[in-house]
Amino acid sequence: MKTVNVDLGDRSYPIYIGDVLLSDAELIRKHITSSQVLVVTNETIAPLYLDKFTAHLKELNFDTVILPDGEYTKSLESLNLVITHLMEKKYNRTCVLIALGGGVIGDLTGFAAACYQRGVKFIQIPTTLLAQVDSSVGGKTAVNHPLGKNMIGAFHQPTVVFADTSILSSLPDRELSAGLAEVIKYGLIRDKEFFDWLEENINNLKNRDNEALSYAIERSCINKAEVVAEDERESGLRAILNLGHTFGHAIETALSYKEWLHGEAIACGMLMAADLSVRLGMLESINVERIRTLLKQINLPVQVHPDVKLDEMLKNMKVDKKSREGVLYLILLDEIGKAVITSDYTEEALTETINHYLS
Ligand code: NAD
Ligand code: GLY
Repeated sequence: MKTVNVDLGDRSYPIYIGDVLLSDAELIRKHITSSQVLVVTNETIAPLYLDKFTAHLKELNFDTVILPDGEYTKSLESLNLVITHLMEKKYNRTCVLIALGGGVIGDLTGFAAACYQRGVKFIQIPTTLLAQVDSSVGGKTAVNHPLGKNMIGAFHQPTVVFADTSILSSLPDRELSAGLAEVIKYGLIRDKEFFDWLEENINNLKNRDNEALSYAIERSCINKAEVVAEDERESGLRAILNLGHTFGHAIETALSYKEWLHGEAIACGMLMAADLSVRLGMLESINVERIRTLLKQINLPVQVHPDVKLDEMLKNMKVDKKSREGVLYLILLDEIGKAVITSDYTEEALTETINHYLS
């Protein structure tokens, strides 16, 4: 088992990474500090892992809420359902919420924990690769509003994260690749040595080699933990974790969040950010080819979806959360392993990049 610490003073917490964590009753019980425990999961994950996990909770007063699968579960309605459950069962302020699921369940449960009685403890048991390397770490919690994704939320850190790699065995290939897009992101933004390692090991990751996966998760979590420790509330540095996200969100919005997974849109967005960096004379062009090759090896898209048009992309990018006072800041690359946050680019270069990637 590997441990990565997220260093946030009295809100610090460990991320455990291993392949038998869900069977480790002692470790799990050590971190459950209350006898009132609510496990939140969904209809896909419950039949696979819920009994295995709750076997460790037998002598506690635990309940479960099983929600429908899908992004639409990250809603105020689901939040209300979880809060109502807590109130009906008279959960007090010392209770613990446990998120057993991907980013959807993690974000929703974390936000419920942030809201209930002004904040209770919660534990993340991420079951997708994306959640293990990104969404379960760092305390961003949220639900969606019909007018915008993640628009209602809070920063609320978990007390522990259990990233069990054996859980990934049931994850569909497409979801695995979407998670790998976020893994590649860490190499691109601040860890060149890791990017080189990814180029060497991409087939092992694709084939779910446990050693390769656990190394990639550990290295990703180390990178994320360092960034979060320095800038928990995204007043500056943390924005680099959004490499490719302004392009990616514009694609997702144009596709009404259908067709592509989040990680797929981010993959294409990272390639576009690299392309723009080359057009601006920041990055050497050979690096765009390196990124494209890596993404293609795991079947991630390297062209924008054919239904997306230039004017839609530009319009959607301008309303991005990183747009401040009418100025759109982008995360670009000076080199592999070095991201910069900048508004120093031309509309012309941006349009050229988008046109180049439109199918
Ligand atoms: P998800 O939670 O929808 O999970 C993807 C799919 O995989 C779902 O159908 C789920 O039921 C299924 N699944 C999960 N674990 C499984 C397993 N072990 N075996 C088989 N199937 C499994 O999606 P996601 O990609 O994990 O997360 C996406 C969400 O995360 C989005 O809402 C996004 O906004 C959010 N997010 C949050 C942060 C953050 O910092 N909080 C960061 C990135 C993304
Ligand atoms: N996923 C981006 C962040 O956690 O800041």
